[in-house]
Amino acid sequence: MLHSALINVMLKAARRAGRSLKRDLGEIENLQVSLKGPANFVSLADKRAEQMLLEDLTKARPGYGFVGEEGGLREGQDKSHTWIVDPLDGTTNFLHGIPQFAISIGLQREGTMIAGVIYNPANDELYLAERGKGAFLNDQRLRVAGRRKLADSVVACGLPHIGRGDFKLSLAELGEIQPKVAGLRRFGAAALDMAFVAAGRLDGFWERNLQAWDMAAGQIIVREAGGIVSGIEGDDDPLKTGDVICGNEFIHAELVKILKPLGK
Ligand code: IPD
Ligand code: CA
Ligand code: CA
Repeated sequence: MLHSALINVMLKAARRAGRSLKRDLGEIENLQVSLKGPANFVSLADKRAEQMLLEDLTKARPGYGFVGEEGGLREGQDKSHTWIVDPLDGTTNFLHGIPQFAISIGLQREGTMIAGVIYNPANDELYLAERGKGAFLNDQRLRVAGRRKLADSVVACGLPHIGRGDFKLSLAELGEIQPKVAGLRRFGAAALDMAFVAAGRLDGFWERNLQAWDMAAGQIIVREAGGIVSGIEGDDDPLKTGDVICGNEFIHAELVKILKPLGK
């Protein structure tokens, strides 16, 4: 499949960092692990992957800004373009050898996401989207699922864990959602949760307290697959609020209806 020069840059960077993560996954026991905060492990693999992405993306597009989870913001000359990168989304899965993790690369122009790539090197699934050109999984066009009722839907969420999140609110959310859906899942890599919504594997996904790099690529991939992405209010920008709800128009609306009043 022919891709734009921009997508080729992103694919090349994701695949190189992906090879590195895959090698490191194989040697997970030997990895030295440093503590970044409560229950928030950052491995050497993570830092190495971000360094590679920074090198490849800034070499190909000198001047673009770069926001990475590990290194924060590096400003560029070109104030209108910013890469938003999570070199390893699903760190806890990775450290436990669970093959549900990904590299997530989003590109923002003047505040709008214009391209995204999410790559899981463990199973070689690569999701991509460019504004106005559709979303793809390994060259296959993606479309969000068509289910209209929550009762038929499989939905994923994020869950608080030690040192992080609002447990009471989360339990209230689960109490409302669980009895209404066909299945609830917690996979542990927000970027892939969004990619799964784009692929129609999941009908919906919501999570609170995320960072822009968890959602940047996912946002454009879901939208280009025909889905809706917002914050908990239903019409707000998840990259600004840190909360996300996505799905097709029906499931998105159902989730907003249930979740919006709970956070008040
Ligand atoms: C995490 C994952 C996880 C979500 C967390 C994120 P990380 O990102 O996306 O699914 O529940 O809130 O922080 O730390 O593995 O890059
Ligand atoms: Ca993340
Ligand atoms: Ca990360």
